[in-house]
Amino acid sequence: MSAEWIWHNGEFIRWEEANVHVSTHALHYGSSVFEGIRAYTTPHGPAVFRLAEHTKRLAYSCKAARMDLPFSEEEINDATLETIARNGHQACYVRPLVYRGAGPLGLEGRKNPVDVIIMTMEWGTYLGQEALENGVDVQISSWRRLAPGTAVSMAKIGGQYVNSQLISMEARDNGFDEGLALDISGNVSEGAGENVFVIIDGVVYTPGSWASILPGITRDSVLTILQEMGVEVRFETIARDMLYMADEIFFTGTAAEITPVRSIDRLQVGEGKRGPITKEAQDQFFAITSGELADRHGWLTPVGVTRPVV
Ligand SMILES: Cc1ncc(COP(=O)(O)O)c(C=O)c1O
Repeated sequence: MSAEWIWHNGEFIRWEEANVHVSTHALHYGSSVFEGIRAYTTPHGPAVFRLAEHTKRLAYSCKAARMDLPFSEEEINDATLETIARNGHQACYVRPLVYRGAGPLGLEGRKNPVDVIIMTMEWGTYLGQEALENGVDVQISSWRRLAPGTAVSMAKIGGQYVNSQLISMEARDNGFDEGLALDISGNVSEGAGENVFVIIDGVVYTPGSWASILPGITRDSVLTILQEMGVEVRFETIARDMLYMADEIFFTGTAAEITPVRSIDRLQVGEGKRGPITKEAQDQFFAITSGELADRHGWLTPVGVTRPVV
């Protein structure tokens, strides 16, 4: 799983040497921000999916966390491509991480240095290859997503992910593949690390930014694909009941890609197997990421070319 090289504050160090001191602020207080990015194998070599958008979100997360990112977005993009190339990956998962490093303790943390790493690893499907076809069993979590005004749900800030861990662990302890959280009002928000789409009578519903979601980059890509498919999409407050009523439900995320949900709270979704809209969206998505279909949206940056190709 591990790679040879990790990019660390502008230099490459070996995987085994990429360690931190126990006074690292992020270890104590969750003061880190991160991204999760995939590179896919294409006939023209590895290519990174929506690199610029991920780096832009990383920069936003830093801003929201009041952390000065000591590199430009362009430098982070270049470093990401270089790390993948240097590690000789074809397909891989990329994890950029910005964190408050070693130094004094104390909540505020702005006296600690801001360190940046980019690590890569080979990683298959998140919820399993079988899940992409047959779907996953999901539980509505007893944990709510971050309430407005208590955290910055649109940013990927390390400490906030305790919420996702609780959702995920509870679901697995109860024998489910994944948990889906409601927002503070009891309406549908998102999975532990995935956005959710709900299909009823041919119309696709997905929660808007008011529902404490992380606005996913896969979500955005799928919205484009659904629009091209001519499917109606509504951004609405989604009542919990709509999950039980749905003909199809799927998750989206860099890790989960597009994963069908086959049951919610042990109630079968639709016919209990991947539905037609889910399948068509998956087919389009994987045809683009594999390079089988032309990259008509400029979503892929080839590794080895150090600027996004338009
Ligand atoms: C809480 C949460 N929601 C949704 C997503 C999906 O976002 P993306 O498609 O950008 O990976 C993620 C993963 O990054 C996440 O952590």
